[in-house]
Amino acid sequence: MHGAMVHSMSTLLSAQYRNAFITGASTGLGRAFAEMLLAQGVEVWGTARDPARLMKHEHFHAVALELGDGVAAESLFLAAEQAAGGFDIAINNAGFGVFGAFAHTDFVVWEEQWRIMLMNTALLSHTALKGMLARKHGALVNISSLAGEFGMPYQAVYNSVKAGLSALSESLMYELHGTGVIIIDFRPGDYLTELEGALRHPPQATMLSDDAVNTQRMARTWEMFVKMMHACPPPAHAAERLRNALQRGRSATVRSGMFFQAVIGPFLARFVSLALRRRIQEKYFGL
Ligand SMILES: NC(=O)c1ccc[n+]([C@@H]2O[C@H](COP(=O)([O-])OP(=O)(O)OC[C@H]3O[C@@H](n4cnc5c(N)ncnc54)[C@H](OP(=O)(O)O)[C@@H]3O)[C@@H](O)[C@H]2O)c1
Repeated sequence: MHGAMVHSMSTLLSAQYRNAFITGASTGLGRAFAEMLLAQGVEVWGTARDPARLMKHEHFHAVALELGDGVAAESLFLAAEQAAGGFDIAINNAGFGVFGAFAHTDFVVWEEQWRIMLMNTALLSHTALKGMLARKHGALVNISSLAGEFGMPYQAVYNSVKAGLSALSESLMYELHGTGVIIIDFRPGDYLTELEGALRHPPQATMLSDDAVNTQRMARTWEMFVKMMHACPPPAHAAERLRNALQRGRSATVRSGMFFQAVIGPFLARFVSLALRRRIQEKYFGL
């Protein structure tokens, strides 16, 4: 742990961090993170595919970035980093969901989700860390999900992206110990954002649509998913949790969300077998 980074909770984050870079700052969690950082006196560079969707603020710099193009995303990050004179915080937040049965969805769809959300996020982590390590200071925040621990049915690749990101962050915590750079593996539960509306529903192969049982299972899962998304806290709640984690100034895994999802569920899960966990999860989704 970097002792000098520990500050009292009343101190503004700008005392520790001058500049931040956030992917996917137009809506949802990313926007809430940007608003929180601006309120904390931090200068923010935020991205969206269409910069018109980004906020207008004196201390906010809009960047048009499509995470699907890793090479372009990396150069945009480097250009912003140079303009900022280095980022003290980098938040890999941009992401989307895909709802579909793994075997019945064109593999290209899954490949794209892995490439955008895992590979290209890892690429931006790699690039951001180089600058932070050279300056011996910084916080890399990867927005993972509780779905990496408690997988959601019909979102197999999303779950695996998030499990992969969390594993990456955890490994980096060992590697970066004592360097002045910290890693936050941020795992939100459900938050009311545009995620559900932006969720992709790729066409399912006819085999599945002919299979009434599977179609019903998918429909029930979707119903439960929508219900969950509408009964959850606003993104500002997650931003508050991230603020506290940044203020503590040490590498950490942070579960954030409704008390049951973020605290009780993971605690109880330690005491039951994986098979029982799966059965509970299946029952929850009406499978
Ligand atoms: N909401 C939840 O319940 C929840 C739970 C756990 C984890 N998360 C994670 O939190 C992160 C933010 O999600 P959210 O819920 O805030 O969703 P959201 O409201 O849909 O916001 C997603 C953000 O990502 C950007 N984005 C999406 N695809 C992109 C692409 N190909 N290239 C560049 N930017 C892209 C969007 O920007 P534009 O569309 O404007 O380009 C938008 O700013 C995601 O990683 C998500 O997996 C969310």
